[in-house]
Amino acid sequence: MCGIVGFTGRQDAKDFLLDGLFKLEYRGYDSAGVAVEQPKGGIEVIRRVGMVAELARAVKESDIAGKCGIGHTRWATHGAATENNAHPHIDCSGKIAVVHNGIIENYMELREELTAKGHTFRSDTDTEVIAHLIEECYEGDFVEATRKAISKLRGAYGVAAIHADHPGVIVVTRKDSPIVVASSVKGAFVASDTVAIVEHTRDVVYLDDDNIAVLNPDGHIDFIDADGNAVYPEPVHVEWDAEAAGRSGFPDFMLKEIYEQPRVIRDTLADRLVDGKISFPELESVGNLANDIDSVTIIGCGTSYHAGLIARQLIEKWARIPVSVEIASEFRYRNPIITPRTLVIAITQSGETADTLEAIKQSRGNGAKAVAITNVVGSRATRESDAVIYIKANMEVSVAATKSFLAQNAILAVLALYLAQERGAIPQDEVCKLYGEMQAIPSQIEWILHQTNDIKRCAKACYKAHSVMYIGRQFGDVTCKEGALKLKEISYVHAEAYAAGEIKHGPIALIDDTVPVVAIATKSSTYEKVISNIEEVKARGAKVVAVATEGDEHIKRYTDLVMYIPDIPEYFSPITASVPLQLFAREIAVLNGRDVDKPRNLAKSVTVE
Ligand code: AGP
Repeated sequence: MCGIVGFTGRQDAKDFLLDGLFKLEYRGYDSAGVAVEQPKGGIEVIRRVGMVAELARAVKESDIAGKCGIGHTRWATHGAATENNAHPHIDCSGKIAVVHNGIIENYMELREELTAKGHTFRSDTDTEVIAHLIEECYEGDFVEATRKAISKLRGAYGVAAIHADHPGVIVVTRKDSPIVVASSVKGAFVASDTVAIVEHTRDVVYLDDDNIAVLNPDGHIDFIDADGNAVYPEPVHVEWDAEAAGRSGFPDFMLKEIYEQPRVIRDTLADRLVDGKISFPELESVGNLANDIDSVTIIGCGTSYHAGLIARQLIEKWARIPVSVEIASEFRYRNPIITPRTLVIAITQSGETADTLEAIKQSRGNGAKAVAITNVVGSRATRESDAVIYIKANMEVSVAATKSFLAQNAILAVLALYLAQERGAIPQDEVCKLYGEMQAIPSQIEWILHQTNDIKRCAKACYKAHSVMYIGRQFGDVTCKEGALKLKEISYVHAEAYAAGEIKHGPIALIDDTVPVVAIATKSSTYEKVISNIEEVKARGAKVVAVATEGDEHIKRYTDLVMYIPDIPEYFSPITASVPLQLFAREIAVLNGRDVDKPRNLAKSVTVE
């Protein structure tokens, strides 16, 4: 949820620290800080509440300078978003500074022990115990002190620490929280996300749990394991470059990422049909997956959960395997029926969502095979699962998931076809035909991206509403759920998504002329039923905006405004119908003056339960 950066080398550290924090701001943004070793000795800490820009202003106005430092952008878990609670945190001597992502579960008992030994705490955070623990364990060897200190921690952490008596050295460690380190001619870097580093080098090391990296100013990095033995992890070459991490002229990342979707779908679908058969080489290591199972359980959170809801319909339709879809945070606590004959599909863009990771662990504990569908190479989900299928979305910066959702849908549709093919549930020529139909999706999205004036008109008609109702049936129902989530999270306009046939069982009481209704009325087997439901809300005074199929003039009789998508079979329609809803939500957010990429109270990866 928070972001960590650190640099030691031959040049001033603060430029990298601030630049890195700006790049990581999407991970958390209620406060930020840096700690830099000063040329005359000692460590100077600057922290500010608010966005990284506040910190950058304070740093520029200060005379802080030095070639080794660490920085942090925070999303509060323990203690309010105040300057005192912002990282870095320091020990009693002021010589040790620490930044931390994650949650230390036993921080209260550690704090009590350390307080009894005379340590003075200045914040409400769990993080501060780490600085005092290192101080307590320190006998002249900074690395050893850190190693001893972390052995006392329970929970999840990514940590970077500096010590005034060990100039130029950054000690880094992690458990269940991502940390990446890298070296270049300029020096050595640490970050919680590759995006902060990739401009400097594309060869990075994803630190393993419990290992420690010691960064030196000449760029050399030593690695040791929890017992202090040297280890030699292999660097990974990151495919995407710094350009991918920029906005490329778009006003915000969300819009840039929406426009990337045709490319993302093309890449995600590429090379999946080999010699007339759907191919998933990633699954070879897990044996005859399709036939060794009786059921599928899909787990995810938020948008990823919605992708799972769509996948359920496809897997059941084509492969005829019963599928349950579970919100990961609920799944973990309800003792679900998972057996060695359950295929668990964990969907997570970031690969770091704590609840999803725990659900994977539990499922594998029950003997199930877990396949992760993720976007982030080296993320925890990739290590915790039996097999990994990468979506080809490239880095997604905006907190609102857009291109990753479309890519998840595309790959899950192909996976559903694969399961059907391997079980012989549908004829092979039908599998190929369906895969062939998907090839039209990228150009269909391009077509939608040319209809933005219509979408803007719809947004203008709705942006002042205090609440918006989304209705649809079958595939349209799930499309609504995702559309409503997008609107809520970036515009702060309340949105309800309901199966259209269900509104008369309660939610229709909410409808009047102040509550616009977005109806998914694309060509489908339930089109006529949706029209009836539109009539029901129209009769209660609602303004109706429809997502409809290009060429459907009939729909205009029942609705006030229309956003069109090209004709597509209903089972693929969530992929394209989601695009106008993304643009609609973004436009409403912009009209309401919201920070589209950094909605309040949210963070890109939710690494806490
Ligand atoms: C969607 O726009 C959200 N940002 C959120 O619901 C997200 O999908 C959820 O937190 C799950 O994240 P993951 O895919 O990285 O696991």
